[in-house]
Order: sequence, then C-alpha cells, then structure tokens
Amino acid sequence: MTRTLSGLLVAAAVAATLSAGLAACNQQVEVKSDMPPLPASATAPVVYPKDIHSYAQPQIARVKHVDLDLKADFTAKTLSGTATLDVTAEPGATQIILDTRNLDIKAVRGPDGPLQYLLGAADPILGQPLTITFPAFTPGETRKIFIDYSTRPDAAALQWLAPAQTAGGKLPFLFSQGQAILTRTWVPTQDSPGIRQTYTAKITVPETLKAVMAAEMLTPDGEAAANGTHSYRFRMTNPVPPYLIALAVGDLAFAADGTRTGVWTEPGKLAAAKAEFAEMGQMVDAAEALYGPYLWGRYDLLILPPSFPFGGMENPRLTFATPTVVAGDKSLVSLVAHELAHSWSGNLVTNATWADFWLNEGFTTYFQNRIMEAVYGNARAQQERVLGWDSLQEQLRDLPAADTRLHLDLAGRDPDDGMTDIAYEKGAAFLETIERTVGRPRFDTWLKGYFERNAFRPMTTDMFLQDIRTNLIKGDTALESQLQMDAWVHQPGLPSNAVAPTSDAFVVVDNAARAFFASRGPASAIPWSSWNTQQRQRFLQWRPANLRPGADWLTNQQLADMEKTLNMNAEGNAEVIFGWLQIAIAHHYQPAVPKLETFLTSMGRRKFVMPLFNSLWAQGDWGRPIATRIYARARPGYHSVTVSSIDALVGAPAAATPPR
Ligand code: BES
Ligand code: ZN
Repeated sequence: MTRTLSGLLVAAAVAATLSAGLAACNQQVEVKSDMPPLPASATAPVVYPKDIHSYAQPQIARVKHVDLDLKADFTAKTLSGTATLDVTAEPGATQIILDTRNLDIKAVRGPDGPLQYLLGAADPILGQPLTITFPAFTPGETRKIFIDYSTRPDAAALQWLAPAQTAGGKLPFLFSQGQAILTRTWVPTQDSPGIRQTYTAKITVPETLKAVMAAEMLTPDGEAAANGTHSYRFRMTNPVPPYLIALAVGDLAFAADGTRTGVWTEPGKLAAAKAEFAEMGQMVDAAEALYGPYLWGRYDLLILPPSFPFGGMENPRLTFATPTVVAGDKSLVSLVAHELAHSWSGNLVTNATWADFWLNEGFTTYFQNRIMEAVYGNARAQQERVLGWDSLQEQLRDLPAADTRLHLDLAGRDPDDGMTDIAYEKGAAFLETIERTVGRPRFDTWLKGYFERNAFRPMTTDMFLQDIRTNLIKGDTALESQLQMDAWVHQPGLPSNAVAPTSDAFVVVDNAARAFFASRGPASAIPWSSWNTQQRQRFLQWRPANLRPGADWLTNQQLADMEKTLNMNAEGNAEVIFGWLQIAIAHHYQPAVPKLETFLTSMGRRKFVMPLFNSLWAQGDWGRPIATRIYARARPGYHSVTVSSIDALVGAPAAATPPR
C-alpha cells in the first residue's frame, strides 16, 4: 500500500516520484494551489462544545489531517485501503477516540508498528467508537496513525449505482453523502462538525471512470495504476468539518463557465446543465459583494444521477446536486444560490453540533434569498421568500411544539430528526426580522463581520447570541427587547415581531385559484402560460380556508380539465409535478397514478418522495396499496437516506434487499 500523497509535502511527492518512475514524474510535481491563504481566525484556539453525536474527545486528542488512499471496487461495492491520520494530543495522552460505523478495520499502526485498538459497542445511530492506544504524547507533538480498513457494501454514506441508474446506462457510479453523521461509514475519523480537518486523497478507480472530490483536483486526467485502474489525487488545505469530505466516481465530464465556475455531470447531460447554470459566476460575484471574499478557490457544481437524496449538498468547491434542478428554464437555480451561500454559512462558520443546525441552514436560506435578489431581482426573491414562509407555516402546524425551536434538543435522537424547515425558514425569518429592525446596511455590516470573525470555526447558538449582542446591539436595551432573540431561538412557534413576506406576483395567482375553486370553472381561465414556476407552485399549493382534513375542494371534472389543459402529464418541472401530484392524491384522482409512479421511480430526492408517500399513506384504503406497490418498485433505486425515511412509514417490503 503506498501512502504517499501528502500533496502538501514536496518530500512525499519526491519519494513517490522515485518509486513511480518517469512516466508519473511529470504529474507528481507540486500543483500550485488556487486557494486563498487562511485567515487568522482559522488557527486561533477552539473550545470544543460537547457533541452528543460523536464519541470523540477532542480536548484530549484530535485529528488534524486525514490522508486517504482508497481503491473503489464496483463489484464488491467497497472502498478499501488506508486512512493516515495526523493526530495531536495533550501531553501524556495515550488514547484517541474516533467515530466509525459499519467499517471493517483490518489493522491500526503507528510510526513504530502495530497499535492496540478497540471497537466499542455499536449504537444504531452513532456507530462504534474506535479507541486507539499509543505511547504517551510529548508536548507539541503531531503523530501519524495508519488505519487499514474497508467499507461495507451498505455503508450509509455511499451509494453504489448500477449502470441502469445513470443517464448513460453503461457505467456504474458512486457518490458519498456525509451530512450529518454518515462520514464515519466511509472514513474512520472524529466525525463532529466542530473538529475541522484538512485532507488529501488518492482514489483508485476503474480506467473507464473518473473520480472527483470536494477538494482541489491535482491530477485532472488521473495517473495510470495497476490492473486496468487509474488514480486521482486531491487536497483540501482549508480545514473542514468531516461531513464535508465528499467523493463521486462515474463517467463524468466538465464544462467551464467563466473563470472560476463550471459544471460536472455525465457527458450526455453536460450541455443542458451548462446552459441551466450560466449565472453561477454572477452568483459568486454577488455573494462576495454581500459578505466578503469566497475562500475556497473554484466553485463548481456536480449534477448527480437522480437517486441523489437531496436537492443539493454544499460540499466545498463542488456542490453536489440533484438533476431535478435542471428544469430547462433556470427556474430552480435558487438551489445553487443556497449551496453557494453555505460557502460562508456552514462551511466557514459551522454549526458546532447538530442542535445548532439552524445556524447553517437559517443563515444560508437568508443569504440565498439575498443572492437571488441581487442576480434575478427583488420580485423573484420575494416570491421565493413567500413560498418559504408558507412551508414554515405548514411545519409549525405539523410539528410537535418542542421541535419548532431553533435550538434543538436532540438527546437520544438521530440528527436527521431535527432537519426540518424550522431550521431553514424560521431561521431565515429570524434574520429577516433583525434586518428589518436595524436596517439592511447595519445588518449587512454585522453579518459580514460575523463571517470574518468566525471563519473556519464552530459556532453555537449561545456564541451567536453573544456575537450579535457585542457587535450589533452593543447595549441598546430598547433594541434588545425589540428583537426578542431569546424567544426566537429557545421558544416554540414565532415571536410577535415576525412579519410575513408578500409578493405582488402572487396576488393574481391567489385570485385565480380562488376563482377556479369557487366557480367550479374551467382550467382554461387560469393564466397558466403567463406564470413562472414560482407562481405555478403557489397556485398548486393554494387551499380553501378552513378545508377539513381529508375533504376534496375540486371536482373530478376540474381535475381532469387541469390535467389536460395545464398539460400535467407532459410536465417536466419537478416542483410543478410535485404540487400537482399532491392535489391528485388528496382527491384520490386515479388517472394521475401513472404519473405519480413514474415520478417516484425516476428520482429519489427525499423532499419529493417523502411527502408523497406520506400523503398516499394518509389516504388509507385508497392510498396505502398504491404506496406499497410503487415503493416495492422504487426502493431498490433509492439512497439509504431516503429508504430509511420511507421504511419507517410504509415498512420495508418483506423480501426487501437491505438498504444500499
Ligand atoms: N445541507 C443541506 C442538505 C442536508 C441537510 C443534507 C441535512 C443532510 C442533512 C443542503 O444545503 C440543503 O439544504 N439542501 C436543500 C436545498 C435547498 C435549496 C433548501 C435540499 O436538499 O432540498
Ligand atoms: Zn442548506
């Protein structure tokens, strides 16, 4: 096993060169970094808050850097090789505790030979602590620990796709998803968002495939390796929380768009993706103009196959995204604004624990709307704010009150349980309230400073409150009481100073929806073709006031008319399809079931899949057999994240294959 790359060390590169021979030599030269230098906040000491979702004890010993040397085996569905950890520890420390889940650990070694290790009891959510014992640390020492291991075929973070699950249909695909606590299923490290690590990697894959990571790509064309494989090298010099370590392997092509942005996807999908996201460069410029320099070098997008369980994932330098955002008309690009915004909120200033998740998502949702406003104008941004507010109202109705607090109590729970719209939309509404109260210029100055002061650092809800009190409120007691900050973060529901956003463009939509409902009239009276996607979403989400649960509001004839006149069976926009199918399910409208089945078996984005199965299930005798039948077909194609959500509702089919 070669464990070279420490791309940071010229010495390592030279050593590798000597053994790899002349052909590889040219590729082993140090690649000039496009990453800006780290700000001072990155290296200032950190006080680690207690993270109940990690076994790590960073105050005693912690991982500073991870080097991965892994080979992807698409037949066995495993990644195997060596993780080399650079560890620092308190003087005298003789142990480090790592997080693992479902890993096969083969050996643990130190610089002087084998080390003793112990895998503790397995918790279904947290996995197993891996406790490694070593000779006592001396002051200031950094030491390497080598872990030889292999992932399991059902590693929750990894989805191994068969060729049929890709656009090209000929080659397999692999991608990772670390957030929230899944990185431990493919990398043995301290998997807590407060414990930042730099990393390097050498990933060996079949010659027909390309590997990309959310890091600088040092060998764009790969380097020849044994037995029909080749290797790709990567390095991330910004310390990142482990949930942002990310890998994808497949038949991938790249199209640049401007100087620092571009799109990766399967070759057949490249042209459409490039056209859809032509404004990515403008978005980065707009984000920088708002809240300071982009500190990650390039910003690229990777459009994954349709089973990707999320809309997007903010992996640094390389946002991972669902193909359902490639709508053909740029109508869903706010997802890119969102993931890009995470390059500040989340990737620079990081929730210290998953109870502070709103600090990632609420700030990002606020920032996303500001980017949309800057690039696409206020009207569009307002429409999206209103849609967000509406989904917040729905969540406030549906969730137990305790789960509508921004700061969560996740004791004994999977962090996934806290990942509701509350974090996103109540969080954003909170920041909008502060903005409205102090005025935008003053708010922007504070927020820019917050990112600067706290870059590359973990943030807790209390630290946030302290920062805003010190740097914005500055002892103004009238302002302090006006903001109601403690109520916002610690109380359920919405404080009295919350204000609903409005959009002029939605007034006509609501009128049309009301008229269609009240008059029992024809769908041809709906000015559908003059509306953008956000207006269409609003129309489809409209419900008469005081609608009884389970009651119909449209006639069968109206549904058939809508389906035909609005051309629902040919609709390609996932948000519009979703809105239509929700109406169809609520009315037990049988003719829409084939479209529903096609939709649910053609993509695995949890945001669409989960509510549709929920709605079907809520429809009892009509919906449950449909749900069970469709799920049996759809399940093998879904990611483990989506599967665990739907299994909990519909139940795993009796002879189900284990989640992949
Ligand atoms: N970081 C999230 C995705 C996530 C959250 C993954 C929690 C795992 C656990 C990402 O930034 C996100 O919020 N994605 C949204 C899209 C966005 C436009 C609201 C999604 O996936 O729908
Ligand atoms: Zn997000």
